[in-house]
Amino acid sequence: MGPTREQAWETLTRYTKSEALRRHALAVDAGTGAYARRFGEDEELWRVVALLHDFDYEIHPTLDKHPQDGAPILREEGYPEVVIEGVLSHAEHLGLPRDTPLKKTLFACDELSGFIHACGLVRPDGIATLEPKSVRKKLKQPSFAAGVHREEVYRGAEELGVDLDEHIAFVVEAMRPIAGQLGLRG
Ligand SMILES: [Fe+2]
Ligand SMILES: [Fe+2]
Repeated sequence: MGPTREQAWETLTRYTKSEALRRHALAVDAGTGAYARRFGEDEELWRVVALLHDFDYEIHPTLDKHPQDGAPILREEGYPEVVIEGVLSHAEHLGLPRDTPLKKTLFACDELSGFIHACGLVRPDGIATLEPKSVRKKLKQPSFAAGVHREEVYRGAEELGVDLDEHIAFVVEAMRPIAGQLGLRG
């Protein structure tokens, strides 16, 4: 039996006390899980990887440690290599191949979900009526959510082989049911 989402949440929250980081994990979990369903893949496994992808960021906030120094911790916690490989693959600086649908999906949901969250924070109804068009417009404003790497958003969709607008709409839709948990109105 593979690891459960519940187990991953327990690991995540043991290492991550920051509300913002927990919300980020939940947002990526929502998008990645929705894609697993759409692709007919192992949703539980994909959600585990999504929840854990930044689990060590609070204890390893720099790229010389995150996420590579988190990997031995996950091994010790008993997570299988498919989880560890998936987690490591999201880090651009490690240059690992994103050679599975899971890795492509995680990468495609990571920066984008953060950007969607930022879009929702400045709207009176959160992400309830957020359209791809307005997300794309904001992507072109460098000063808005400046920490989000635009290039990774575009490349994520490309590598996954999905149209950017459809991808944005899909991830927004996946995040809507948990908008409250993400601290968004509406
Ligand atoms: Fe990360
Ligand atoms: Fe992340």
